[in-house]
Amino acid sequence: MSRKSLLTNRAGLTHKIGYAVRHPARITPYVKRTARDTWLRLKHPDHIAYYRAVMASDAGRNPEAAVGSRSHERWLALGEMQFDYLAEHGLRPGHRMLDIGCGNLRAGWRFIAHLHTGHYYGIDISPDILISAKQTLTTYGLQDKLPHLTITQDLTLDFLPSAHFDIVHAHSVFSHSPVEVIDECLAHVGRILAPGGFFDFTFDRTEATEHQVLREDFYYRTETLLELARRHGLEARFMEDWEKRPHGQSKIRVNNPA
Ligand SMILES: C[S@@+](CC[C@H](N)C(=O)[O-])C[C@H]1O[C@@H](n2cnc3c(N)ncnc32)[C@H](O)[C@@H]1O
Repeated sequence: MSRKSLLTNRAGLTHKIGYAVRHPARITPYVKRTARDTWLRLKHPDHIAYYRAVMASDAGRNPEAAVGSRSHERWLALGEMQFDYLAEHGLRPGHRMLDIGCGNLRAGWRFIAHLHTGHYYGIDISPDILISAKQTLTTYGLQDKLPHLTITQDLTLDFLPSAHFDIVHAHSVFSHSPVEVIDECLAHVGRILAPGGFFDFTFDRTEATEHQVLREDFYYRTETLLELARRHGLEARFMEDWEKRPHGQSKIRVNNPA
């Protein structure tokens, strides 16, 4: 991540004008997206309902683009990057994994293939993307692995067992979440983590003012999220080794001290 991008406030007018001058072809798509999102926000004042509607609209056009991949090659590469990272950090077939915001299993299908039957649990707020997730399962012939794929409305995780998951994972989810959603997740994730388990999440990092764009993309300072985790009695640290990967987001790991 470049120093310049860390200091950019994408919500600022100066940035928007400069960006439009540098990328004139992106003006029309941006205006269309702004109009669509404004309409969806008026219809759905609640963030989850709003983002679910954004996903319905995006997934209806192209599910791989809806999870942030501009081509199938990128979809494959982004899934591989997530899998390789956790494999290097000790992911074993016997582990139990919760994938928050699993999308259409860009990484999920690799986790499912690696883990024992029934050890993968994916949750998402979007029924449209979960339908696409089922298609991914079929494409990769993973029916016998019997993963759980469940719709959720919030991140209280109240329907899941205590001390159960060795790895909880949320890739490119908090980059689309207001701080209340992240706070809710951090308030509850400690309960479901198995002893020695951890929770990895990515976020869009800024070293300037925290900001958001169209209530779709949220930019946080590292310290804000570390402090939020600590307030819930969790240990949290910035993952320097993730920074070496060709990915625009940063990663934090949360451990349950218990
Ligand atoms: C950019 S996609 C990433 C999907 C997947 N993690 C991956 O890397 O391929 C973000 C996903 O998170 C889901 N999502 C957004 N907010 C969520 C929330 N509060 N709880 C659960 N899922 C959420 C979206 O519906 C979407 O499927």
